[in-house]
Amino acid sequence: MRMGLEATCKVEGHEFKPWETMSYTNGRAMQESSAPRKPRILLAASGSVAAIKFGNLCSCFADWADVKAVATHAALHFIDRTTLPKDVILYTDEHEWSTWSKIGDTVLHIELRQWADIMVIAPLSANTLGKIAGGLCDNLLTCIIRAWDYEKPIFVAPAMNTHMWTNPFTERHLMTVDELGVTLIPPVSKRLACGDYGTGAMAEPSLIHSTVRLFMESRQNANGGKSQ
Ligand SMILES: Cc1cc2nc3c(=O)[nH]c(=O)nc-3n(C[C@H](O)[C@H](O)[C@H](O)COP(=O)(O)O)c2cc1C
Repeated sequence: MRMGLEATCKVEGHEFKPWETMSYTNGRAMQESSAPRKPRILLAASGSVAAIKFGNLCSCFADWADVKAVATHAALHFIDRTTLPKDVILYTDEHEWSTWSKIGDTVLHIELRQWADIMVIAPLSANTLGKIAGGLCDNLLTCIIRAWDYEKPIFVAPAMNTHMWTNPFTERHLMTVDELGVTLIPPVSKRLACGDYGTGAMAEPSLIHSTVRLFMESRQNANGGKSQ
């Protein structure tokens, strides 16, 4: 199935042109309007229990930015899709493969990494952190990261059990992703969903949102008011 510009894609009853709001298609930039546009934010969730807050996080950003969302298979166990803003499309591994069947078809993880100005992974699971640090790319989220242009900002907000957080692998993996240019929004200490007390809970969506927004505003000011 070729997914050209005229094609529509029906996902869970919602029909849309996959690239209708994207500025790139088939790897080529389309004509950009000179009018200022909203920042494009790619929000991603992996399989931490904190993904139950993903809808809230998407809502914070959707108030002022164009938002697209990505979730891993495990994250879908925690995300209540009814909490997502109506205009935010949630992409999954299923879309990655349903939109491609032959050479010349668009590749979703490449389209999304080109579309986005910035990416935020919240929550970041121990597993996805390890995969990013190791360069693995076996799902939509990790393929986007593996293909990411590290000139563009990327933030991660880990969330995991405190024993996972204090495991020596975590520090090693965080050092590796720091070298890539990834910015850490650290987890906080509290009673975790599993009942343990300690560090590992995802920062609140409001804090993640304000951290990213402040970063974008200060960069925009440094660029003399231009959003790009
Ligand atoms: C109920 C439940 C809660 C979980 N919570 C977390 C968590 O908070 N953080 C984490 O790193 N992994 C958590 N896991 C384990 C991940 O879901 C698991 O490692 C999964 O493979 C992650 O896949 P992903 O990184 O592709 O999303 C949890 C698993 C279950 C069953």
